[in-house]
Amino acid sequence: MDYIRNRNEASALLEWGKNQNPGSWYAHSIHVAQATEKVVAALISKGYDLDVDVAYNAALLHDIGRYKGFTKSVIHSYDGYEYMNQLGYRGNAQICVTHSFPSGNQHLEYAADWALVPDSMEMKLKKILNNYPAYNLYDKVIALCDALADEEGFTLLEKRLISVGLRHGTNRHTSLHWQGFYAIKNELEAMIGVSIYTLFPGIEQSIYTS
Ligand SMILES: [Fe+2]
Repeated sequence: MDYIRNRNEASALLEWGKNQNPGSWYAHSIHVAQATEKVVAALISKGYDLDVDVAYNAALLHDIGRYKGFTKSVIHSYDGYEYMNQLGYRGNAQICVTHSFPSGNQHLEYAADWALVPDSMEMKLKKILNNYPAYNLYDKVIALCDALADEEGFTLLEKRLISVGLRHGTNRHTSLHWQGFYAIKNELEAMIGVSIYTLFPGIEQSIYTS
């Protein structure tokens, strides 16, 4: 897989995206990258073969599809995939999709609000996920950290999930989506041997913010 390794290059792409479409996604992306860096550093300290620059950059650009403006459901994943693929970074393109699907290709029919997504995009996203055999650690860490950071900084998984639910609504399949995050969190915590929150200084402050 080809990933962006140079942090200056990744930062320049994010700045470009922000200029196309300013919004809270910019600060969120930086905080997701910071969270990802801490989790990957912990994994590396336990002997896992990962590159902290690859992880940081991929997290920084996971929402780059937002450059197109506000789009509903997983259209930003599709736009990010297309954009990063055009640049030749297949690994980054993949993460633009996988971060929106914490359960992989399981329950795909319920994993997104497909009614909001054009048919051609839906078909392509499902094809991408079905052709991807198993998430690697970059996919998993970034999918989880996407749910552990907002525009203010690090946050609790429960708080983030409720916040998204309040803004975008929930349905009878939402718990399946949530289970995907907890499965990743449990797996990563078993690998690093501590609660993931111990890696995020000041995380307790998030309980006092609205
Ligand atoms: Fe995100």
